[in-house]
Amino acid sequence: MPFIADALLRVKPSATIAVTQKARDLKNAGRDIISLSVGEPDFDTPDNIKKAAIAAIERGETKYTPVLGIPPLREAIARKFKRENNLDYKASQTIVGTGGKHILFNAFLATINPGDEVIIPAPYWVSYPDMVLIAGGSPVPVATRIEQGFKLQPEALEKAITPKTKWLLLNSPSNPSGAAYTHAELKALTDVLLRHEHVWVLTDDIYEHLIYGDFKFATPAEVEPRLIDRTLTMNGVSKSYAMTGWRIGYAAGPEQLIKAMDMLQGQQTSGACSIAQWASVEALTGPQDFIAERRKIFEERRDLVVSMLNQAKFLQCPSPEGAFYVYPSCAEAIGKTTPEGKRIDTDEDFVAGLLEAEGVAVVQGSAFGLGPNFRISYATATSVLEDACVKIQRFCSSLA
Ligand SMILES: Cc1ncc(COP(=O)(O)O)c(C=O)c1O
Repeated sequence: MPFIADALLRVKPSATIAVTQKARDLKNAGRDIISLSVGEPDFDTPDNIKKAAIAAIERGETKYTPVLGIPPLREAIARKFKRENNLDYKASQTIVGTGGKHILFNAFLATINPGDEVIIPAPYWVSYPDMVLIAGGSPVPVATRIEQGFKLQPEALEKAITPKTKWLLLNSPSNPSGAAYTHAELKALTDVLLRHEHVWVLTDDIYEHLIYGDFKFATPAEVEPRLIDRTLTMNGVSKSYAMTGWRIGYAAGPEQLIKAMDMLQGQQTSGACSIAQWASVEALTGPQDFIAERRKIFEERRDLVVSMLNQAKFLQCPSPEGAFYVYPSCAEAIGKTTPEGKRIDTDEDFVAGLLEAEGVAVVQGSAFGLGPNFRISYATATSVLEDACVKIQRFCSSLA
């Protein structure tokens, strides 16, 4: 009998981590490599946030915290939801966890019984299906189309719902496509959910602040207040405040669900890091102007990358509304051959060929459940992005 639990046999290793490791190995072997595979802002955590953490250490805020989080942070989260999303959550309806990932995981562990289904629009963040599988549920990927901006359509949602559906998992702006739903697009989806009272919505809003042009961010419970009693609105400081290493995520939802997650977390990690929680109070309540400044830089990079990729032979790259990813299609490159005689049959072959020929690391679409595409993270210096796009163009031109 195998010693390792069956639940883990269902899980795949993270493709993004695998690509990052391969790029690292090639670099160590002396190759000149550009990695566009990372999922974190290249900016540093703002100084006022760092100082709040130092002050917390000096005040002796170094002990266990309540499982659901320190009261000032839970208050700040409730105020953030009111201020930015027009959502009336009480502090008692909030939970703080060790990163957004932890919150999502615990929401699934706290609610999923064997056979329960979770609808996940594809392309999706690599971790979603595996989290559902570990919790004993069945991920139900629903393909979206590039022509529809990689957004779930109401008819497709209606068709995917069964009596076993527990959650619809939405992520806007999306990792990996950057797609973000407008108020009207979300309303079309929440209208479907109103007809299916057993389905809850888990909305991963972690890229909320990374939106471009005049796009307005919206979240399901704001668009359809009648869904508030079956919505978990998840967010975190990792991406908006460049705090990936601090490991703070949070959510708000019905008290019954928050209580279940409290019980689970109490037997698991307990409260999140006390110092990171105090830093997050400063993130949510301190000056917010740097977000707009960084957003502008990301937007310029998005425009550069989209324009340069659309000039590459065989690639089609929509301009997404948010996050720091683009998700070009390489469908026209399938069936072509590299100068070394290697045939490109899949997006994985495309990505491997690009890494080998030009030293540019990107992640294949098959990892995100929809291809042939690949994901580029543009959370990298503009000059490096320019260089990488020239190399991608050269690789595409070399295919015949
Ligand atoms: C869509 C999405 N949700 C959640 C997370 C996890 O965020 P955290 O670092 O707060 O765990 C990520 C990080 O890559 C993400 O891309």
